[in-house]
Amino acid sequence: METRTGIDTVSAEQAHHEPSEAYRSKSRVSSKADYERLYKESIEQPDSFWKREASQLTFRKPWTVTLEQNGPFAKWFTDAELNVTESCLDRHLGTDTENKTAIIWEGEGGANKTLTYRELHEQVTLFAAVLRDQGVTTGDRVAIYMGMVPEVVVAMLACARIGAPHSVIFGGFAADSLRGRINDCGAKVVLTQDAAPRRGKPVKLKQTVDEALQDAPSVEKVVVLQHYGPESECTLLEGRDVDWATAVEAADAKNGAAAVVGAEHPLFILYTSGSTGKPKGVLHTSAGYLVGAHVSTKYVFDIQEDDVYWCTADVGWITGHSYLVYGPLSNGMTCLMYEGAPNHPDWGRFWEIIDKHEVTILYTAPTAIRAFIRAGDEWVNKHDLSSLRLLGTVGEPINPEAWNWYYDKIGKKRCPIVDTWWQTETGSIMMTTLPGACAAKPGSTGLPFFGVAPDVVRSDGTSVADREGGLFILRRPWPSILRTVWGDDERYVRQYFTDVPGNVYVTGDGAHRDADGYFQVIGRIDDVLNVSGHRIGTAEVESSLVGHEAVAEAAAVGRPDDLKGQALVVFATLKPGFAKDDALKATLKAHVGKDIGKFAAPDEIRFADALPKTRSGKIMRRLLKDVAAGRDITGDTSTLEDASVIEQLRHG
Ligand code: WT7
Repeated sequence: METRTGIDTVSAEQAHHEPSEAYRSKSRVSSKADYERLYKESIEQPDSFWKREASQLTFRKPWTVTLEQNGPFAKWFTDAELNVTESCLDRHLGTDTENKTAIIWEGEGGANKTLTYRELHEQVTLFAAVLRDQGVTTGDRVAIYMGMVPEVVVAMLACARIGAPHSVIFGGFAADSLRGRINDCGAKVVLTQDAAPRRGKPVKLKQTVDEALQDAPSVEKVVVLQHYGPESECTLLEGRDVDWATAVEAADAKNGAAAVVGAEHPLFILYTSGSTGKPKGVLHTSAGYLVGAHVSTKYVFDIQEDDVYWCTADVGWITGHSYLVYGPLSNGMTCLMYEGAPNHPDWGRFWEIIDKHEVTILYTAPTAIRAFIRAGDEWVNKHDLSSLRLLGTVGEPINPEAWNWYYDKIGKKRCPIVDTWWQTETGSIMMTTLPGACAAKPGSTGLPFFGVAPDVVRSDGTSVADREGGLFILRRPWPSILRTVWGDDERYVRQYFTDVPGNVYVTGDGAHRDADGYFQVIGRIDDVLNVSGHRIGTAEVESSLVGHEAVAEAAAVGRPDDLKGQALVVFATLKPGFAKDDALKATLKAHVGKDIGKFAAPDEIRFADALPKTRSGKIMRRLLKDVAAGRDITGDTSTLEDASVIEQLRHG
């Protein structure tokens, strides 16, 4: 059955997994009734709710105004003053947490480093002084292009310490993507490292920075961490580039004092793909973001004093920001940070790390879980995993098979699973089942987190019936909502607040709700793909392809994939004189990889003489999706201009 939104409706009820009594008895919120009471309070008395829940955080000046809303624009805790790093670092000094391990770093090759809260505070303070020495002041943007090393956390917090918004760019992005982001935010300084290891080989980050900076006029300095060694072939450009260690040596910690900023001072910009070719700079600000990350970490991961918490996300994505850095550190947790790939040197790597460091909480992505399933249970069976007590997943819908495997094989039916739905834009977890309070249902993300008001609606804004598919929206602002698209308020409003009337936030996902009020998120309904948990804008891929001399026109669509969730399929027409052969397909895949980043390279390219279009010239994506998935064409094709192209696309 289909609704007007075109999103499938479900019929079957799913299995329930109630938290065990053993788990419940130790948890923070230990019954559905407690969850409901707190949820109700968060919606009906947000003033007292957020005051109490944020009371552990450090504010130089407390707020008196909780929320100021002006149409789609929201401000939270507006009159507060703070520095986010004082909640993550300074507040732990002089307490038992001071000498607690903040970061356990596991290198790709198995090396370890640890930093206590005191040490992390020292390093951040010193690096804040380094940034000031390089001319960075409050409000200046700093781009960070690094791998998973402790210094990237130091770098982010040092930016926050001086009130310089950071923009972390995932190390898998290629030079053009890096340049685009640096130029869009007008970064004054870039922080990078010589190279990061990837399955034993160097990813030469500094060389990519050099290439990107060929046309990036705002950048004055580059601070380079020597991490990998000579094989990285890293050279420093006199006058522009600064060696990290030398700069730290020369810095004076007295210059690393925290800058006190207002609640709405920009904390970071994180670029994410949208439905146009240009990535959006999602802007998060200080107080609301911190409160959102802090409170959600506390409840969703149901944290305990002696947890060793491992979030496997790269710091270049929002999960790395909120649940590797700001959320856990503001809660004084011990966080594991792993530098390498999940299958290096073999598929037992994650399980070995869990045993080695006695990890208690694992937060990872469905695509990784599916890859482990495929690799075979023998890798898991070699390890004990008895330290684990809670599992989490994020990034895409988790299919029940993967959920069950995670529950049985990794959690040994003992650990609750929190399936957390959220987005770069939401800043923190919006939907899940609190582990000691609510039953989990495989494949369903669950219930709203505190302060979140989800709904599933038709495009006129009216709510759909239970189990009917529709647009997934959030009816009211929450503390960590993005404030705007950097430099483009108009795009912010258009993207998130126009498709559905009533000043509601449109997520871009489709969903349905069951009779228990549980939400199941189906996936993106806009022109955004989710490939292995990475968000890829089809328009970006298309614009890269038409930038190649052989391509006349291109349309990128998703096809369901067992491993990646979605695979990227491109249909292309060629300019005269180019042969539709495999060599060109390989060239074009490499071209996108070089333009955007390897993770965005198409899985499949199909050539045709024409793309299916309506008579008004619009590419019929729905039809291409059917072709890509090998399905019969379901939709209406009466507006198709040239019906013969379909046959060709099937075989292209
Ligand atoms: C999109 C956001 C938020 C961290 C990682 C991705 C999809 C995310 C879930 C989930 C179903 C999910 C949605 C969302 N998504 N988590 N638990 N169940 N779908 O951040 O790159 O901003 O992507 O990821 O489609 O809109 P992102």
